[in-house]
Amino acid sequence: MIQLQNVSKTYKNGVKALNNINLSIKPGEIVGLIGPNGAGKTTLVKIMLGLLNPTSGTIKIFGKQIDKLSKNEKRRVGFLLDGPGFYDDLTVEENLNFWSELYNVPNDRKSELINQWQLNENKKSLVKELSAGMRQKLSIVRTFLHEPEIIFMDEPTSNLDPLARKNMVEFLKSFQDTETAFLITSHDLFDVERICSRIVLIRRGEIVVSGNMEELKRALGVQIGVKIRVSSDIPQVITSKFTKDCEISFLNEKELLVTGNKDCSKNIMKYLISQGVDVERVEEEKITLEDIYLSIIREDEEQ
Ligand SMILES: Nc1ncnc2c1ncn2[C@@H]1O[C@H](COP(=O)(O)OP(=O)(O)OP(=O)(O)O)[C@@H](O)[C@H]1O
Ligand SMILES: [Mg+2]
Repeated sequence: MIQLQNVSKTYKNGVKALNNINLSIKPGEIVGLIGPNGAGKTTLVKIMLGLLNPTSGTIKIFGKQIDKLSKNEKRRVGFLLDGPGFYDDLTVEENLNFWSELYNVPNDRKSELINQWQLNENKKSLVKELSAGMRQKLSIVRTFLHEPEIIFMDEPTSNLDPLARKNMVEFLKSFQDTETAFLITSHDLFDVERICSRIVLIRRGEIVVSGNMEELKRALGVQIGVKIRVSSDIPQVITSKFTKDCEISFLNEKELLVTGNKDCSKNIMKYLISQGVDVERVEEEKITLEDIYLSIIREDEEQ
């Protein structure tokens, strides 16, 4: 649906914002693009939308170079970007009417979104008088108005209050089993983890890792910590028995913390049971996207 091949971008001032990006997005995928400030996320979104030209490389949407897309094909793409795009001296309603006419959107679709994003009270407000969050809600409504099949969103939850942010997360999750393709950039890693089927981490214009949470953990060799609680004393020899790939530490006489790959905890439990020790509780430490992100970025900064 979307294909980027060897995309690089060097701005006129010499800043190399993207270096050889290869990425493809299939129908139904919700891709989260994350990375530090200045990593190149917005640049990439703008290039995918044809708002910026890459220095080299090709971008295809629906199998076509983006400058070759027909009007109808362009209509199937939606976007949310910070910045321009509205008539500041017109009201919320007038702006939405403009877009609705352009896209042939029925009135009830428009009203449904206005209600959903609590813009009813602000329908008559001039866009230039909106708060940052209200403006963001207006952008959201515009993005989804014409029910696009491909949606690019640069920081969709920025400026939203906690309730609106939660609405946004729920709204995006409602697309999880549809054919709509998304590319979403965000610094809200908790949200990205809940919403996205694939995560792409970029740093200094290059893709560092890409995959779902399980793949990311595996690629990074993330060590999983498992707490094992037993009902009788643990044989002390256990710490010397599994030294190779597993690290075992005693939290107290009845609790162990095991770090290593998935097999570690499995083998240790088997051993305990074979020694007649009752395993009471097993708790896996949860590794979040934030943990993964921080471990990559910190490691990089230390170099
Ligand atoms: N119009 C421009 N002219 C020159 N350099 C630019 C321009 N826009 C962005 N850059 C530079 O390109 C690099 C990537 O910027 P970009 O805005 O794509 O990052 P980002 O990942 O979106 O960051 P953030 O998380 O802060 O939004 C940065 O070094 C930035 O300074
Ligand atoms: Mg940005």
